[in-house]
Amino acid sequence: MAMEYKFSDRAAALTPSVTLAIDGKAKEMKAAGIDVVGFGTGQPDFDTLDFVKDAAKKALDEGFTKYTPAAGIPELRQSIADKFERENGLSYQTDQIVVSCGGKHSCFNVMMVLCEQGDEVIVPAPYWLSYPEMVRMAGATPVILETGQATDFKVTPEQLAQAITDRTRLYILNSPSNPTGVVYSPAEIKALGDVCIEKGVMILSDEIYEHLLYDGAVHQSVASFSAEHQAQTIIVHGFAKAWSMTGWRLGFMAAPLPIAKKIAAFQSHSTSNPTSFAQLGGVAAMTQPMSHLPAWLAEFAKRRELAHA
Ligand SMILES: Cc1ncc(COP(=O)(O)O)c(C=O)c1O
Repeated sequence: MAMEYKFSDRAAALTPSVTLAIDGKAKEMKAAGIDVVGFGTGQPDFDTLDFVKDAAKKALDEGFTKYTPAAGIPELRQSIADKFERENGLSYQTDQIVVSCGGKHSCFNVMMVLCEQGDEVIVPAPYWLSYPEMVRMAGATPVILETGQATDFKVTPEQLAQAITDRTRLYILNSPSNPTGVVYSPAEIKALGDVCIEKGVMILSDEIYEHLLYDGAVHQSVASFSAEHQAQTIIVHGFAKAWSMTGWRLGFMAAPLPIAKKIAAFQSHSTSNPTSFAQLGGVAAMTQPMSHLPAWLAEFAKRRELAHA
């Protein structure tokens, strides 16, 4: 007789990432010679930049292959704090930054450290599929806020205020957004932040697509409007998208100190540090100002053209 395995409630309701499954299927079809475009995972169509790879190779060659501090090496945490200062006008101490194994890992850490049974987390739809699953894994309840064409797929401050109850723990703000590509204007972001301040709700601001802006759109972090906004925001970010490092599994978050410390402790008992030599690739990526991005993209477009010529 087949063994019947018992699962925790947490795992029983869980379904595998559909995005990764779609990606796997597209790769399978490609391998079978079928002309297919995968709309599953979000991956830039250029390779990780050479100077980033070189830094990780050098780290390996020099034996940088051991455990590091769980929240990341000080040099990387500092370079991320510098990025927030330089690009977002936000001041963070290095111990407010926790480096992780990807933006997904950072989101998960936030849910696990802040949310529990009885808590509600507001997730605007259409959403990145992992958000509600992570909320459920933390034992909390996702509250889906529907948006549509009438508001350009944006949540309005009135809609957010209405959805907040005394059990709301967290509001997920993802701009630029996956999957809609919507970018909230600075005024719209501020208005949503103001609602959260008024109601005492923490914001998980997923800014992983910060640098992928088109047609004159601008990104402004919700944390940057005032000290109050910053005190109520956890920024999640990562190297995957703008630096095209999806497979490196390297992300980070910035939060008020007590939250960052708790997340670092949580991570220290789950994954420990993100991969040592990947972190040195991260330092190389992070210390190069993003104003170089258009030049990198042009370079890769040229290489692609040559490859296909
Ligand atoms: C909205 C959003 N947040 C976070 C992530 C996590 O990215 P990673 O874990 O690869 O850094 C993704 C990846 O697709 C995403 O779309």
